[in-house]
Amino acid sequence: AVAHDLVIVANRLPVDRVTEKNGRAAWRRSPGGLVSAIEPVMRAHDGVWIGWSGGNEARLKPFTVDGLHLVPMAMSETEISEHYEGFSNGTLWPLYHDLIAKPEFHREWWDTYVKVNRRFAEKAADLAADGATVWVHDYQLQLVPQMLRELRPDLRIGFYLHIPFPPTELFQQLPWRRQILEGLLGADLVGFQLPGAAQNFVRLVRQRVGHKTHRDLVYLPDGRTVRAAAFPISIDASGFEELARSEAVTARAAEIREALGNPRKIFLGIDRLDYTKGIYARLRAFGELVSEGALDVDDAVFVQVAVPSRERVEHYRNLRDDIDRLVGRLNGDLGRIGTPAISYMHTSYPREEMAALYRAADIMVVTPYRDGMNLVAKEYVACRIEDDGALVLSEFAGAAEELRQAWLVNPYDMNGMKAALLEAFQAQPKEVTRRMRAMRKQIAQHDVKAWADSFMTELELAEDVQHTKT
Ligand code: G6P
Repeated sequence: AVAHDLVIVANRLPVDRVTEKNGRAAWRRSPGGLVSAIEPVMRAHDGVWIGWSGGNEARLKPFTVDGLHLVPMAMSETEISEHYEGFSNGTLWPLYHDLIAKPEFHREWWDTYVKVNRRFAEKAADLAADGATVWVHDYQLQLVPQMLRELRPDLRIGFYLHIPFPPTELFQQLPWRRQILEGLLGADLVGFQLPGAAQNFVRLVRQRVGHKTHRDLVYLPDGRTVRAAAFPISIDASGFEELARSEAVTARAAEIREALGNPRKIFLGIDRLDYTKGIYARLRAFGELVSEGALDVDDAVFVQVAVPSRERVEHYRNLRDDIDRLVGRLNGDLGRIGTPAISYMHTSYPREEMAALYRAADIMVVTPYRDGMNLVAKEYVACRIEDDGALVLSEFAGAAEELRQAWLVNPYDMNGMKAALLEAFQAQPKEVTRRMRAMRKQIAQHDVKAWADSFMTELELAEDVQHTKT
């Protein structure tokens, strides 16, 4: 096998299986945030990306899409159900998101999580050149750093957690808390979205594993040092901006407004259909404003795009039913012929269509109960090339630490949320522009390239610390 100087390890490959017009199966780059985030580093280092294809094929050969080298990992039906749907999305996801849903603890799920992590670690060990850099991503693979270090002590290993790291009291519930912490400590650098998360991690390592720590450093008994720090992720801001300026997207945005009956203002939500996102609450808030007469369906429409996600996990199935019912009820109660209150789509769209929606929308509503960062909020800002558009943003999204000029809301506070939606609706254009300009400046200065560069730079420095010690 070819040895690579950079190996990316993530649960998913950055491509989706699609069926072409001629009926043949093909791969298409996925529109997701993680891909756009890492692609530039991959290209710069001629790296390889290890991940799950999303299916249950037993054998898939390495392949290349748009010049990206991809190595698919096979997952059996049991592994999909116990590693992906089970431990990753039935245990860790809710535990790391403030227990919005109740996490389930099953020993079989854990065993399969360990098994799958080991297979990813072994594959990375196979593909990495001597002294290569391996960058492991997200909560599905938290044991890989330690497993990989045991196999290949020569490697430089970074880990990045894309989702929140929970407060210590919540993390302690996990029966396998110590194994997870030790798994992460296999890395030289452990990256988080926010400084608070890095601090939680260091505190837990001190309290639970008993290692010495100082500020953002952990000192291991074997002489290694691990650093934990924040690297708030971002988007390809100029890419989105360019897309938003294109003729096709400009025309499509006008078409969307037209198709919605040219309402005075369009509210927009775009989320994976996930219970952390607060979709239900925001639609209810909008519905109450209409039913109380503060908004009128001739003036305002709410466009909600819910991207299908983790559909075999019970919480997700229930959420879909709840939202289907709510949208039906709101449209039944509040809509008029040709003018529904909510325009709801349960589907995923390519980047162009997303950009057109962002350009068409006057008010973007992002109201998660807890979110590591939330790139939709940043994408909206990047696409507002005319410096207008209001962002209503949850305080509990990581993005709120950077996008201070949004209309910040507590999604648990229904009246507060209604007030913010109304304020954003009624805001003077000057005020909207003042806020949007400041946010656009922030996004332009902190794009995904800066994020990846700073993680890679800090990873190199982290390794230097090891070397100067020995
Ligand atoms: C979040 C996670 C990613 C995950 C993505 C989509 O952004 O941080 O690791 O890939 O959601 O979820 P899925 O379960 O479809 O991979």
